[in-house]
Amino acid sequence: MKVCESVALCLFILIYNSSSPGVTAFQLKTIYCTIAESCDCDFKPDVQGLEWDLYKNLYGQHLAQDIVSEAVVGFVQKESPKVPLVLSFHGASGTGKTLVSSMLGRHLFGAAMSSPYIHQFVPTLHFPQLDRVQEYRSALKRWVEGNLTACARSIFIFDEMEMMPPGVIDVLVPFLGPSHVVFQTNYRKAIYIFISTAGEEVINKVTLEKRQAGKEREDIQLGDLEASLAQAVFDNKNSGFFQSRIISEKLITWYVPFLPLSRRHVERCARRELCQRGECQRRDVMEAVGNSLTYTAGNDQLFSNTGCKSVPAKVNLFL
Ligand SMILES: Nc1ncnc2c1ncn2[C@@H]1O[C@H](COP(=O)(O)OP(=O)(O)O)[C@@H](O)[C@H]1O
Ligand SMILES: [Mg+2]
Repeated sequence: MKVCESVALCLFILIYNSSSPGVTAFQLKTIYCTIAESCDCDFKPDVQGLEWDLYKNLYGQHLAQDIVSEAVVGFVQKESPKVPLVLSFHGASGTGKTLVSSMLGRHLFGAAMSSPYIHQFVPTLHFPQLDRVQEYRSALKRWVEGNLTACARSIFIFDEMEMMPPGVIDVLVPFLGPSHVVFQTNYRKAIYIFISTAGEEVINKVTLEKRQAGKEREDIQLGDLEASLAQAVFDNKNSGFFQSRIISEKLITWYVPFLPLSRRHVERCARRELCQRGECQRRDVMEAVGNSLTYTAGNDQLFSNTGCKSVPAKVNLFL
């Protein structure tokens, strides 16, 4: 029988045996992970569960379904990825961006969003003041570094990027490229998800044009949107990505467009809500919810202004 499997394990046993009682299990694990470069924390990717959830519970978003499944499945199966996975979700409010980010948390760590390895940032809460950019930059850098040392497979979610003061997010540039391996910590295993409404005009315009040209929604391809979406986000003064090097240096692996939802999608959201309450058969309520929302896009009134966001409240009202 081997006494020690590897140098890293021996060192770990040595540290473990000689450590003072004040050293926590978490700190020990961190030391071991740093030495072994092989710690994946509670990372238990359930690839099939993720694909099924996206397919079954996300309506009207064929691009997000395809891109997220393919990108994430490919990434988590690599033992040593060359670059981290950087996804940027764009689209109007209530189209499923936050929903997909929580699906990822649930299926990658098996522990909803409460996993200690999933870190969510909300600018209005964590970075509220425009004049404190330098301070936020140093804090964010330290925070990301510390968390990656504890768990190379961490997920960082930056929601509401349109509220982020410009300049803060570029402190992440060194982490997002291929070269960052510091003191044996592999920074290439992390997943970064940026979420914003920036670029929604571009997505809505392309979706409307396809529709007016008599094409199916599913005919829209990422190539129809990607370049103009990146440019719109880069140029948008009211977005955390304004003139960001993350965009100009092409550090985003995938842009993920969320298309505007039309009435039939909103009604599916209403039906799901009704079924969860044991009222699947209430077609009248489903239609009342569909009727009560406001829709825009030219004169055709095609897309719901709030996506599926206000559906639960409307169901309460009409049930
Ligand atoms: N495409 C969608 N498919 C199914 N449900 C959706 C979709 N978009 C939004 N919803 C529902 O509406 C709620 C709000 O969506 P959310 O993901 O928070 O929107 P946002 O894009 O603004 O982040 C979700 O909890 C979900 O129930
Ligand atoms: Mg959201």
